[in-house]
Amino acid sequence: MSALFQPYQLKSVTLRNRIAVPPMCQYSAIDGVAGDWHLTHYAALGRGGAGLVIVEATAVSAEGRITPGDLGIWNDAQAAALAQVAAAIKAGGAVPGIQLAHAGRKAGSNRPWEGDDQMAADDPRTWQAKAPSALAHGANWPRTPLEMSVDDIAQVQCDFAAAAVRALAAGFEWMELHFAHGYLAQTFLSPYANRRGDDYGGSYANRSRFMIETLAAVRAVWPDHLPLTVRLGVTEFNGHDEAELLEAIALATRFRQDGLDFLDASIGFTVVGASVPWQQTGFMLPLAERIGRASGLPMAASWGLGEPELAQRAVARGQIALVMVARAHLANPHWSFHAARKLGAAEPAAALPPPYRYWLERYTAGD
Ligand SMILES: Cc1cc2nc3c(=O)[nH]c(=O)nc-3n(C[C@H](O)[C@H](O)[C@H](O)COP(=O)(O)O)c2cc1C
Repeated sequence: MSALFQPYQLKSVTLRNRIAVPPMCQYSAIDGVAGDWHLTHYAALGRGGAGLVIVEATAVSAEGRITPGDLGIWNDAQAAALAQVAAAIKAGGAVPGIQLAHAGRKAGSNRPWEGDDQMAADDPRTWQAKAPSALAHGANWPRTPLEMSVDDIAQVQCDFAAAAVRALAAGFEWMELHFAHGYLAQTFLSPYANRRGDDYGGSYANRSRFMIETLAAVRAVWPDHLPLTVRLGVTEFNGHDEAELLEAIALATRFRQDGLDFLDASIGFTVVGASVPWQQTGFMLPLAERIGRASGLPMAASWGLGEPELAQRAVARGQIALVMVARAHLANPHWSFHAARKLGAAEPAAALPPPYRYWLERYTAGD
């Protein structure tokens, strides 16, 4: 059996293979509550064959949503709808995960297909964003956020812990904290977004304090036998890659000491105009590999890994433990089946439920 299709165990959870669907916002919730769209979307991904399906960035508070369509988990109605989503993923044979998030200074935005920018300050649908410092992201996010007080910080950390408690009760078995992509946690870490003069700004130790405390708050309520993971923006690709990578290694090592089980290496996205090497196939893999080897954490990565041979090679070489395949799963929720066929697996439809498996084992069109 190819490396990509080996089961993966982390704590008490076993994934049927090394393929994960990372969080992908659907921006389709009403008042943060998952609806039919989410149920059908996640049910399809759950039965598609991946080992792990992580539900999109789910806001820990109303102000922490990116857009009015984001999922939330700050009240019981939201948690009840998410319990159905978790059950649908599990019924398909995948492990249900969830990403908890706070948008920080990118809050109050339009959906990507409605502008992919921040709403005007006088738009009645928007709200005031909060961030470590009163610095706008720039480009399509020009509004200046309010600088958070120390009480605001403590409140957000309580919100993360309360959200984790609700996520556990809703049936999620894999927790991912969103510490990437220019949202709240990443902006605390970034010297470009954080100019605070108190214990949460300045030195790297201070800038990482928000993440370390938030992780501890969730660790205290999330059970030890279930995976607790982070998606971290490990570099900005703005010319300081090596220095940022060394800092990410130090932070990952600290996270591990504090009880983190797994890290997904992603991009900072706090700097407008960074030079992300989009054309370089598998560009996140060497970074993830270095962080994993130095910190001892099992790793994942995404960004352009949806070619089965590439995904297979990354896992076989031990660069990453799990491959996160996002957009290729929107193109084909049965991407795992497609990959298994392309890699010549003996029973490529094995992970699919019987009503699909029976037929697809006998269907060779498109080979
Ligand atoms: C529609 C869409 C929504 C996304 N939403 C999230 C999100 O909620 N949280 C997150 O960490 N990343 C999000 N991402 C990034 C993906 O998880 C993934 O890292 C990225 O698409 C690169 O992987 P890919 O090349 O396989 O698509 C999103 C990407 C897409 C395309």
